[in-house]
Formats: sequence, C-alpha cells, structure tokens
Amino acid sequence: MHNDISEIIFTDERIQKRVKELAQDISNDYEGKQITLVSILKGATIFLADLMKNLSIPLSIDFMAVSSYKNTQSSGVVRMLLDLRETPENKNLLIVEDIIDTGLTVDYLCENLKTRNPKSLKICSLLYKPARRIKEIKIDYLGFEVPDKFVVGYGMDYNEIYRNLPYIGVLKPEVYRRK
Ligand code: IMP
Repeated sequence: MHNDISEIIFTDERIQKRVKELAQDISNDYEGKQITLVSILKGATIFLADLMKNLSIPLSIDFMAVSSYKNTQSSGVVRMLLDLRETPENKNLLIVEDIIDTGLTVDYLCENLKTRNPKSLKICSLLYKPARRIKEIKIDYLGFEVPDKFVVGYGMDYNEIYRNLPYIGVLKPEVYRRK
C-alpha cells in the first residue's frame, strides 16, 4: 500500500466485480438502444474504460471537464473547462462520474445538458459520499457509498497525484495538511 494512504476501502477486485454488475444493469436497461457515455474528466476515466469494456450495447463516448475543487474542498462554484465534441441533442446520455460529493458538479452538468434536448439523461457514479450532500441527486447507477473521507486512486486524485493507484484508498489527512 502507498505510504500516503491510511486504508484501502475498495480493492481492485471488488471494484471490477461491481463495475461488471453496473454494466450488466445498464446493458439490460438500454437493450435495443444506443447510448452516449458522457465522462467527466479527469477522475472518471479509469471507471469509464472499465465500464465500457463490459457494456454490450452500441455506444459512443464524449467528454466534459468542469472544475469546482481546490485541494480537498469544493469551492461551490462550478466552471466548465471543456464541452462535448458531439451534439447531445436526441441522444441517450449517461453521465459517468467518479464520485458525487456535494452534488454541485453533477447538478450543474444535468441542468446544462437538459437545455440541449437529449432523448434521455441518466447518471452513473462509482461513488457517493452522502454526508456532504448539498444538492439531492437521483443516481440511476451507483457503485458504492463512501464515508466522509477524502479518497484517491482508480482515477481520483489529490492535486493531480494518486490517480494510478489500482485501488480506492483514504488519503492520510497529514498529506493535505502539510501542503
Ligand atoms: P461535488 O461537486 O462536490 O459533488 O464534487 C464532485 C467532484 O469532486 C468529483 O468529480 C471529484 O472530482 C471531486 N471529489 C469529491 N470528493 C472527492 C474525494 O474524496 N476524492 C477525490 N476527488 C473528490
């Protein structure tokens, strides 16, 4: 285990098993349809890759980037950094997120996408941290709930580091306090 991690919450094996279950549910629900996975850069990229490998329906992918985080606290102000390449109009959109914390980011994305006339819009998030909820979000496909701790790995970072850890672990608070 990495020195800056205090505990592993989800091992690689556990994540892979859950991702396969989510993919099965999504494939069943969208049978006979085509979907566009809208992935949020950068934290959701590993989740997106694993999820799409396990989906059996025709799909395309597109990316958005937003920013609301400074260190380990949400700033509460969401900024769009990168918009979709393709038009979302008349498409079955599935937002693929790494973690929903306050809910502000996904709420902003949903409101933004809804104005662009998609055929449908749903949310898939690997993690949800209910303790810090500000916006109530209906998560259609959820991997796991997590306690109110700052987690990294499997795509998630602290100041751009730790994304490559294959597991999801809790970052030792002294790591962000000493910066
Ligand atoms: P929200 O807007 O507060 O829901 O935050 C969503 C975004 O904050 C996620 O997409 C992550 O990029 C980031 N985030 C929230 N909590 C954590 C965490 O525990 N570790 C790493 N990133 C996090």
